[in-house]
Amino acid sequence: MSRTLKRDIPGEDWRVTAEDVAAKGWPALFGDAVDPGVALVIEIGFGRGEFLLDLASAEPRVPHVGVEYSTKRVLKMARRLARLGLRNVRLVDAMAETLVRDVVVPGSVRDFWINFPDPWPKKRHHRRRLLQAGFVRVLAERLVVEGRLHVATDHEGYAEAIDAVLSAEPSLENVLAPAPFVRDVPGRRPTAYELEWRAEGRPMHFFEYRRRRFTG
Ligand SMILES: C[S@@+](CC[C@H](N)C(=O)[O-])C[C@H]1O[C@@H](n2cnc3c(N)ncnc32)[C@H](O)[C@@H]1O
Repeated sequence: MSRTLKRDIPGEDWRVTAEDVAAKGWPALFGDAVDPGVALVIEIGFGRGEFLLDLASAEPRVPHVGVEYSTKRVLKMARRLARLGLRNVRLVDAMAETLVRDVVVPGSVRDFWINFPDPWPKKRHHRRRLLQAGFVRVLAERLVVEGRLHVATDHEGYAEAIDAVLSAEPSLENVLAPAPFVRDVPGRRPTAYELEWRAEGRPMHFFEYRRRRFTG
């Protein structure tokens, strides 16, 4: 039996559009919910949203943005945020590549989190993968100096490609060097996909890069 998707937002609706951001800017969209002048934390492809909720709850005065192209997921998360009364999260129903490129200004992000991006395992679909050289360059430019890019995947082939593309970006530095990634991050909250893949015994790959002070 299919359940009807509830569309009402039981409180404040924290969904914003790229046009809102372009017209008003992030500081106006967050208002007094966060401390002024604080760099953004952005999760791309937040899925069920539990990871973003944890991040935002741990730092309630820091602006958090969730970008997700599943309209249903964004709606569900908006309902959850409203119920919880969390005020420091804004949600955007958008393709991350476009949103980050068009309305996130360079040097404005403290952390990007990308957890279990779709691996597109077939070779002919690799071009659909999120982590490509061009987008990694855009992500790196959006970070503040010392800002972090965190990526997790369970997929061996995608992990190799991610390693190649991140290590080739001159403005990023591997925090975990000489290891390309780690299998576990103590204290890290598992996402819904992570729990599923761990139950299947798949190996984890957690990457962490930071924006260099000087680019080569
Ligand atoms: C495999 S799921 C992982 C979900 C969640 N991060 C987790 O670990 O449980 C990938 C998510 O990224 C979203 N997504 C994929 N490509 C995207 C893109 N280009 N922009 C925004 N969201 C995207 C999908 O809708 C999906 O929710």
